Amino acid sequence: MRKVQFFDTTLRDGEQTPGVNFNTKEKVQLALQLEKWGIDTIEAGFPIASPGDFEAVRAIGQAVKKATVAGLARCQKADIDSVYDAIGDCAHPQIHVFLATSEIHMRDKLKMTPEEVLSSIHEYVTYARSLFDIVQFSPEDASRTSKDFLLKAVQTAVNAGATIINIPDTVGYANPTEYGAMFAYLIENVRSNQPITYSSHCHDDLGMASANALAAIENGANRVEGTVNGIGERAGNTALEEIAVALHIRKDFYQCETNIVLNETKRTSDLVARLSGIGVPRNKAVIGGNAYAHESGIHQDGVLKNPETYEIITPQLVGVATNSLPLGKLSGRHAFQEKLKDLGYDVEGEELKALFKRFKALADKKKQVTDEDLLALVADEARQQ
Ligand code: KIV
Ligand code: ZN
Repeated sequence: MRKVQFFDTTLRDGEQTPGVNFNTKEKVQLALQLEKWGIDTIEAGFPIASPGDFEAVRAIGQAVKKATVAGLARCQKADIDSVYDAIGDCAHPQIHVFLATSEIHMRDKLKMTPEEVLSSIHEYVTYARSLFDIVQFSPEDASRTSKDFLLKAVQTAVNAGATIINIPDTVGYANPTEYGAMFAYLIENVRSNQPITYSSHCHDDLGMASANALAAIENGANRVEGTVNGIGERAGNTALEEIAVALHIRKDFYQCETNIVLNETKRTSDLVARLSGIGVPRNKAVIGGNAYAHESGIHQDGVLKNPETYEIITPQLVGVATNSLPLGKLSGRHAFQEKLKDLGYDVEGEELKALFKRFKALADKKKQVTDEDLLALVADEARQQ
């Protein structure tokens, strides 16, 4: 089976989430958990951005021993030197150099001609390669770059020594068909005398970040970039936990393996949520609070008979203790009876019928019926008999 590597950028792109600011201690704690989760490469930060970020990237480089540690640099000597000063002496360093290649970014942001952009890619990837064994290059805004120019930019980076080509859908513009096709095209047309790793990097502006990353993998990408819980600039990045679990659950389709330790997923997600202050929506795939909760009677009955009727992921796979059957107005008698059993009441026949009727009346008035509500109901029913 093909191996898909995971590149986590929670500490760099994830920290670009408005309102998020990890301190060095938190960053090191997160990096160590990411390493435990099985992440292959941790993007520790953008060291030129501030003395604090430099210090954090350096501390991560010293603390992390197994995973590769990457630092971000623009096509500028000072940026590249700063990454080298921060992580050049760590166990497995890698530099991530980027430059925008779309017309709008070149013309209105960089104020550079396409020729100047190509020459800058050549100059700074060559310089980065003189300091680092592994150089990653990203043509920023790749999905809004013309196909021909993207190929030129990537070929220039490869000729200058980049062995990892990351294709950012910077503004979350691509759809899975288009994004997958970009990988197929580059893999087919870029010439290199050494193996190139193709990597996806997607943003979620149109809600397609995970679908796009999976399309890239289907079309030959063997590395995926993203963040834990999908945090990041604007609508965020590809949620890595979604990709890890999708590749596992649909191994039949993707035929890929990863190094992710799936039962560390929830712990990793909880830590990122706590330290970032960005809570996970309850309906979030894989790690949301409702991901293993079943409320309607038909679903609850099915799950009680065989969890696989409505669960394609066992909660334990990702480190969630158990599924749950919250009781509400749509819940059925089977789940109600099981809940009473859990609370210590083995109720059947007429008594069950009466209690279930009262429960339904209560559930119509409340969003969710709690254990305390049920205990009160049972006690009241007993008093009336
Ligand atoms: O989204 C993006 O283009 C980036 C690059 C720096 C890779 O985060
Ligand atoms: Zn990004």
